[in-house]
Amino acid sequence: MKKLETREDIELLVNKFYDKVGSDPTIGFFFTDVAKVNWNKHLPKMYAFWETLLFGQVSYKGNPMAVHFPVNEKIPMEKFHFEHWLTLWTETVEENFSGEIADLAIYKATNIANLMAHKMDIARRV
Ligand code: HEM
Repeated sequence: MKKLETREDIELLVNKFYDKVGSDPTIGFFFTDVAKVNWNKHLPKMYAFWETLLFGQVSYKGNPMAVHFPVNEKIPMEKFHFEHWLTLWTETVEENFSGEIADLAIYKATNIANLMAHKMDIARRV
């Protein structure tokens, strides 16, 4: 299996992941109906995000937590949504790549998804 090592690899991974997400019965509607995401803008942001996290290229400048709060206010983003997001991400990484950086992509996503799930939950209680 191929190592995850280039910007092209990130683009392929992110494209395949959001292909799955967009038509996913459990979380797809957050993107297509709730936030009505413009994929031409969203995908390049996600390439930059993952390039920054995995290769230390500082190409993403944003606040990944902040954009999810307005979504969470419209429709609660619950623990099971994040678990499902993570299952799709892990599956997509493992179907296409192996090695240290692929493992790191799963590890970092797990940490962020858990933290995000917690923050969304807290935001709904205040
Ligand atoms: C159930 C899980 C999730 C859902 C439904 C979701 C949904 C969304 C949506 C709808 C947007 C676009 C918001 C907008 O532009 O108005 C977005 C952006 C984004 N998401 Fe998520 N997300 C989830 C989990 C995650 C996780 C776990 C991560 C990180 C590992 C993540 C990283 C990002 C980033 C980096 C952006 C772009 C932020 C920016 O505009 O700078 N998301 N997400």
